[in-house]
Order: sequence, then C-alpha cells, then structure tokens
Amino acid sequence: MQIVTTVDSLRQILKPLSKEGKVIGLVPTMGALHDGHGALIKESVKDCDITVVSVFLNPIQFGKNEDLDKYPKRLEADAKFAGSLGADYVFAPSVQEMYPDGDPLTLVRDETLESLYCGAYRPGHFRGVLTVVSKLFLISGCNHAYFGEKDYQQVFLIERMVKDLNFDLQIHRVKLVREDSGLALSSRNEYLSEDEHSRALGIYGGLKQAKAAYEAGERSVSKIRDIVLKSILAARGIVQFVEVVNQKDLQKFSGMLAPEDKVVILVAAFFGKTRLIDNIELN
Ligand code: PAJ
Repeated sequence: MQIVTTVDSLRQILKPLSKEGKVIGLVPTMGALHDGHGALIKESVKDCDITVVSVFLNPIQFGKNEDLDKYPKRLEADAKFAGSLGADYVFAPSVQEMYPDGDPLTLVRDETLESLYCGAYRPGHFRGVLTVVSKLFLISGCNHAYFGEKDYQQVFLIERMVKDLNFDLQIHRVKLVREDSGLALSSRNEYLSEDEHSRALGIYGGLKQAKAAYEAGERSVSKIRDIVLKSILAARGIVQFVEVVNQKDLQKFSGMLAPEDKVVILVAAFFGKTRLIDNIELN
C-alpha cells in the first residue's frame, strides 16, 4: 500500500499500468473510513487489478456552516484499513494540489436534481461532488468506480453524469452497509452522543416499518411517508425531508403507488447537531 499525494505522481504510476492492460478501480472517499467504505473497496479489489482509494476532504462540496473543519481525519489509519482490504494506492492530495488556483472556475453540475432533496438543503453541494469526482476520474483514468447507495442521490447523479459526459468507465453501486443496530454507517456517526446514537435508530426503524407496510399492501404515498416521519419524531429527531421517490428518475411520487413503480424512500434528519441520511428501496 502506497500513499500518493500529487496528481503527477499518481498519473506516473497509473498510466503505465493502464497501458499494460491492467484494470483500474477507483473508490472516492473523504476519509474516516469504515466498513461502508470497506464494502466499496472489497468490490473494487474483487473486480480490478489495481485499486486506488482516494481520501480527499473536498472543501467545495461543503456549505459555509457545515462540518468541514470538524470532519474526522486519520489518513494513516485509513491507509492501513484500505491496504488490509487489498487496495494498492491511497491518493490523498492536499486542497492546494486539487485546487491550485483556488476554487475552480469550471464546475460540473446537473440542472435539476441538484436543487432537490439533499441539494435543497445543501446549495452547491452536488456541483462540488460532481466536479471533484470528474477530476478524480480524469486524474486516475480508472476503468471502474465504486459508490455506495447510502448516498442515493449522489450515486444517481454520478451515473447520470457519466452517461451525459461519456466518461469511459463503469460505475458500480454498492448496497448500503449498516451497523448491527441498523444505523447506516457514516463517518458522521462519530459526532453522535450515546443518547443521540440510540435515538437515531428511529430512522431505520421507520424505514423498516414503511417497507413492511408496503409489503402488506399499503400504496398510499402519504401514509408510507407518515410512518417514517412518526418514527423519527418519536425518537426526537428533527426531520429535514422524508420523500417517496422513483428509483429510476428520483422524481417524487404522490397519491397512490402503481404496481410497476420502483420506489425508494429518502430521508435526512438531525439528531442533535448531526445530520444523518438514509434510504430504503421498497421493491
Ligand atoms: P464519503 O462520505 O466518504 O463516502 C465515500 C463513498 O462511500 C460514497 O460512495 C458513499 O456512498 C460510500 N458509503 C459511505 N457510507 C456507506 C455505507 N454505510 N454503506 C455503503 N456505502 C457507503 O460520498 C463522499 O464521501 C463524497 O461525496 C465523494 C463521493 C468522495 C466526493 O467527495
């Protein structure tokens, strides 16, 4: 396992490997790695000859009052963890290395979904994500890239960007990984107090109840939504949104669901000061 910190050195390493015909997998992360990231790394190691894990806390995807400064940082431990799963390189550039001229003038953004769901509450977030992910694709020249369904809207937008811009690589979606308790693994879970952590289980509790109701025949969007809302409110969480949306285009459903509808519930809620997101596919 080697830690690489500059764009040039990563290119110098990967270009010859690519020429030899080696298949390169990229796992973009912001660090503070956990088993959710681990699942992505394992997939890449299984599919590819070379796995590169990027660890870059991307400032341009954070809002002014968000947690950029307190986001957990532990590069050495991350590199050890990634190496133990078979990753070959950790790419950990500085902000100066990624944005030598300050904030980029050229941004990659979608025109519609960036202002829905997470994007509605985090203006500029998704264009920061799409821009840095594009840079990482171009820097690494990867053939495959791995993203978690934990960030459902993010992976959807990245898949769409790859199609729209003809990036010559394949995106792989990896299922959301949860703690045994049911809480979705997240680097931000470290912010939770014990009490907040146990109350936050109300998110997955609500999502499971909603799925059970759907499986028992409930088709009313508002009733399905209410089940999740009630569970989070009972746990004294502050709901940002609970939306019942189409897996295919991320548009909101309303009224009654049809049998052919492919449905996912997207949630964001605060426990204390910590914003958590989660989701569940109903079918
Ligand atoms: P980060 O939050 O570190 O997540 C990196 C990747 O790990 C994302 O694809 C995310 O969906 C996945 N992931 C995180 N927790 C997961 C879980 N519990 N189960 C499955 N996958 C999980 O997402 C980002 O970083 C950034 O926005 C990034 C794409 C790196 C761009 O800066």
